[in-house]
Amino acid sequence: MSGPPGHPWPANPPAAPSAPPVPSGPPTSTAPVPYLGAPAEGPADERARSGADQARDALSALRAEVAKAVVGQDAVVTGLVIALLCRGHVLLEGVPGVAKTLLVRTLSATLSLDFKRVQFTPDLMPGDVTGSLVYDAKTAEFAFREGPIFTNLLLADEINRTPPKTQAALLEAMEERQVSVDGSPMRLPDPFVVVATQNPIEYEGTYQLPEAQLDRFLLKLTVPLPPRDQEIAVLERHALGFDPKDLSHVKQVASAADLAAGRAEVAKLHVAPEVLGYIVDLARATRMSPSLQLGVSPRGATALLAAARAWAWLSGRSYVTPDDVKALAKPALRHRVQLRPEAELEGATPDGLLDGVLASVPVPR
Ligand SMILES: Nc1ncnc2c1ncn2[C@@H]1O[C@H](COP(=O)(O)OP(=O)(O)OP(=O)(O)O)[C@@H](O)[C@H]1O
Ligand SMILES: [Mg+2]
Repeated sequence: MSGPPGHPWPANPPAAPSAPPVPSGPPTSTAPVPYLGAPAEGPADERARSGADQARDALSALRAEVAKAVVGQDAVVTGLVIALLCRGHVLLEGVPGVAKTLLVRTLSATLSLDFKRVQFTPDLMPGDVTGSLVYDAKTAEFAFREGPIFTNLLLADEINRTPPKTQAALLEAMEERQVSVDGSPMRLPDPFVVVATQNPIEYEGTYQLPEAQLDRFLLKLTVPLPPRDQEIAVLERHALGFDPKDLSHVKQVASAADLAAGRAEVAKLHVAPEVLGYIVDLARATRMSPSLQLGVSPRGATALLAAARAWAWLSGRSYVTPDDVKALAKPALRHRVQLRPEAELEGATPDGLLDGVLASVPVPR
């Protein structure tokens, strides 16, 4: 699905296929502002816009590059770009074979950033991720050998196949953006973004991530099975000799500088008090829900704000609308709510619950 003409981003942002179409740019003086409080843009903003446009163009070129290898999955790609802009970590969930690994590998090929992939196996030790002290016979001293976590983009593949101790080492480093070695902290590079994949079906030999630590992930994106026509397109590619191991036709189109420029623009975005109020009302509504034993924390509300801002900027606007908030509500919040066992038995799901909350909380107009 593509956005309005001239609009590089899909109209369906992460997990909000029913979201209304995104306007193609900032409102002109004749168009009514969709809610109170959007600032008027003056000529002073014109010059700054060129650098911002360059960053936005680079990030939309990235989508076209990813599409050279991966068919569809636009919403997931958009979610990953939002996370990169926010320097937030992502949990990618989907059944086996829906191209979770291929997606992240292809994304890394479009970015001139350092990338590492770690396959989380049952025998992986914390030191295999973070690094370890090794004895150097020449100097007769222990020296730290950096683990694969010292990178910009880390694919933590099949994170639920590794025991809790190793998961905990990764989650701690994700939160603190540092690794402690012999009591002294070692900073991780900037940006440092983890994309962890997991299979939603619990089977023998898997370890669910601790619920209380899931909010270290900015977004939880679900990778759906493709619709029929896209699955046919996948087969056509394979019939034409596409080899998922060979991504040499995918070009690097965005850099850390583009991400930093984008981030600086996102930080300038206007957020009206009504929109802040809306985010808080959504979070509060989850806390009142009888189906939940744990609702969204203030940290969850800040995550939703950050993601909605990045999405608003990618959509070419200088202010955040309630629709941006709605579009990102499920990816930003679905892993931060905890269902009561009774509700779960009755078939309730976090997404279903959030749909209910979105339908019941009044939208500022
Ligand atoms: N949307 C798609 N576009 C292109 N290829 C696809 C797509 N979906 C599946 N494939 C094909 O299926 C293969 C499986 O993908 P991949 O290994 O990335 O899946 P996965 O979701 O990581 O699975 P697992 O959970 O088993 O690790 C890809 O290498 C590719 O050949
Ligand atoms: Mg995989």
